[in-house]
Amino acid sequence: MQKAELRVAVLGAGIIAKAHFDAIQSTTGFAACAVVDINLDKANEIAQLYEITAYNDYREMIKQECPDVVVIALPHYLHKETAVFAAEHGCHLMLEKPMALSVSECDEIIQAGRKADIRILVGHTQHYIAENIQAKRIIQSEELGKLVMIHDVRHTNYFQDSRPQWFLEKEKSGGGILANLGTHSIDKIQWLTDRTVRKLRSSVSYHGSRGNVEGSGMIYLELTSGIPATIVQSGYLGASRNETEIMFTGGMLKLVTGESLWISRGGQYEKLDTPNTAAPFELQYSDLLTAIRDHSETSCSPAYARGVIAALEAVYRSAETGLEQFVDQEFGS
Ligand SMILES: NC(=O)c1ccc[n+]([C@@H]2O[C@H](COP(=O)([O-])OP(=O)(O)OC[C@H]3O[C@@H](n4cnc5c(N)ncnc54)[C@H](O)[C@@H]3O)[C@@H](O)[C@H]2O)c1
Repeated sequence: MQKAELRVAVLGAGIIAKAHFDAIQSTTGFAACAVVDINLDKANEIAQLYEITAYNDYREMIKQECPDVVVIALPHYLHKETAVFAAEHGCHLMLEKPMALSVSECDEIIQAGRKADIRILVGHTQHYIAENIQAKRIIQSEELGKLVMIHDVRHTNYFQDSRPQWFLEKEKSGGGILANLGTHSIDKIQWLTDRTVRKLRSSVSYHGSRGNVEGSGMIYLELTSGIPATIVQSGYLGASRNETEIMFTGGMLKLVTGESLWISRGGQYEKLDTPNTAAPFELQYSDLLTAIRDHSETSCSPAYARGVIAALEAVYRSAETGLEQFVDQEFGS
């Protein structure tokens, strides 16, 4: 018999934690039970707000609480270790992006998940944002003709004082702006087009005011079926942007993720009305619940998310060697 409510514990009481707790609260079928942070003050603050129990050791929490679902909202270097431990204790996973530091870590998570027969949803939020969903529908409909190419631009002050230090230490984060925000762009392009990155060439720079990660990157990539795309990101000072232009034979789309979607059929861009959908994190939790109840694959599977890390690894290989790199996306290959 199915439990009426599944108990959910969140690892990490940092910047993104409240978005998870709010979505858990809004999802009938899930109930938050615990929060873990190495900084117990942060865990206590969240625990008071959501009337749950605070811990500072994730192993102890999992043993004491036996949650049905564990949410991993921790620095990237802790994703693999915590995901494998939680899987071994039979917990389903909501695992924040990027999935892990490397393809081999992703493989360990996938294997632990399969062995334990648990569901894993990797939190690639792009799949659940209203304008993105609308853009994907237009691409699939072919109403603007043949898809020709994509240009994705993101600028943000990546080295701002408020950014936690671990994001800027390569061994803890896996990389800089490209590991954190570049993975959003790689994912967005793959998911929008239902294609995967096949090969790429990249160039990065290291002029950040702190840490040892790259502060900018330019990637020229080719998707399966030969569609080209560029990803351009700067984390240095400048005007913030987050725009994806998608060019077809009969028009263009301009996607300002989180804000708006624009269309041109030959003239100026016109803003489209975006249909209301639930908040992205609520959609993620609703999909995870469905996958648990139906014993089906999640809408953002670990095998897919592993492919994003495979592309990221190829980005750093290309930047280092100056050579084009192929991306092997297949788990087990
Ligand atoms: N989906 C999105 O759009 C989105 C947005 C922001 C962040 N994220 C992802 O969420 C994750 C967390 O990011 P954040 O911005 O909340 O980071 P953060 O630094 O604000 O939070 C991480 C928390 O983990 C705690 N922590 C560190 N080591 C720990 C340990 N051993 N045990 C328990 N707690 C420990 C820290 O004290 C901190 O409070 C990352 O994977 C990040 O990329 C995703």
